[in-house]
Amino acid sequence: MDVVTDSLLVGLQERSYSIVFGQNLLTNVGEYLADIKFPKNIALVTNLTVLDLYGQTVLTSLETAGFTCSVITVPEGEEYKNLATLELIYDQLIEGNFDRGSGLIALGGGVVGDMAGYAAATFLRGIPFVQIPTTILSQVDSSVGGKTAVNHRLGKNLIGAFYQPRLVLIDIDTLKTLDRREVRAGIAEIVKYGIISDAEFFAWLENNVSELLELEPEALLHAVKRSCQIKSDIVEIDEREGSVRALLNYGHTFGHAIESLCGYGEWRHGEAVACGMVVASRIAHNLGLADEGSTARISTLLRNFQLPVDAPDFALHQFVTAMRRDKKVREGSLTLVLNQGIGSAKLYPVSNIEDTFHSALPDLES
Ligand code: NAD
Ligand code: GLY
Repeated sequence: MDVVTDSLLVGLQERSYSIVFGQNLLTNVGEYLADIKFPKNIALVTNLTVLDLYGQTVLTSLETAGFTCSVITVPEGEEYKNLATLELIYDQLIEGNFDRGSGLIALGGGVVGDMAGYAAATFLRGIPFVQIPTTILSQVDSSVGGKTAVNHRLGKNLIGAFYQPRLVLIDIDTLKTLDRREVRAGIAEIVKYGIISDAEFFAWLENNVSELLELEPEALLHAVKRSCQIKSDIVEIDEREGSVRALLNYGHTFGHAIESLCGYGEWRHGEAVACGMVVASRIAHNLGLADEGSTARISTLLRNFQLPVDAPDFALHQFVTAMRRDKKVREGSLTLVLNQGIGSAKLYPVSNIEDTFHSALPDLES
């Protein structure tokens, strides 16, 4: 039996929107869009893999509800999340005579969502858009909160905008077709929410490892919804990352260094974040913010989710150089997100980056 459809509101005044969670939602996309009076003329942005799996279901539902929909496909992969692909989207929007009265749907993972969201933010200075995320990472993170972007050859997500969707539709059934490695990588972001914000949720995750790895619907729905609730609470306080939204970057400083040293794609983002979270927790312990038991629990939980917790084989100075290139470094000082035990985190500026990371990774060659 399907789990019950549920929803939560992201409260951002006139930019507020609902996140709807459930199973078998794609067959009702048209009804959900009709409910929010979404424009009748729609561009559906997706890639060929997702189009093949879910395109027909979505298109049929839209047509039945009286929408007209054209499909725009983008090439698959992070390497295509760039200005050249964005231009292909604009070309098709312009050639297809889309106007300010049109709308856009992003159907896919975070790559499609970020890029289609930025196209919606910028085409004709902004048209309404809806996120239909189909990976765990995009369901618990990228589809919520309005960060849209494409990469520049000099760095990830350097060209973008804060632009909130009108609706996020999360159908957990779409995760059944997801590659197992993508499932595990997405779960790393779920663990992140427990560490930074909710000790009880973290304990629940410890008790539901096999249920989540096996995509058991009730457990999955609880984990996805609790993650979105935590993210939404933070975004409601700090939509444009002036303060607490930066807590969502927990594990990401070291994680980004791994991704950039290994070459994007070698480690999945969530895998790099998993390792980064263990490093952050060791630093927190060394600075007296967390006890040793917290690091042990974090590391054990990530291992149980079959995620990597050991840093790849690079010297400390290589990690430090990569971290210095991070957007978060200002005037030589790096603001880390550190956990206070489990269930809470704070921003913590460090000026001696080498010593801080050496203390957490003593075995690395300098
Ligand atoms: P992704 O979009 O590359 O998707 C992973 C792979 O899964 C792709 O090959 C995709 O085609 C395929 N896929 C998607 N849904 C599927 C399904 N249901 N069944 C089978 N295959 C499916 O990767 P991702 O992890 O979803 O997203 C990563 C991107 O998200 C990065 O570009 C990152 O920068 C971005 N991101 C953005 C935010 C934000 O706040 N906007 C937050 C975190 C990450
Ligand atoms: N993924 C971090 C954020 O949305 O702020």
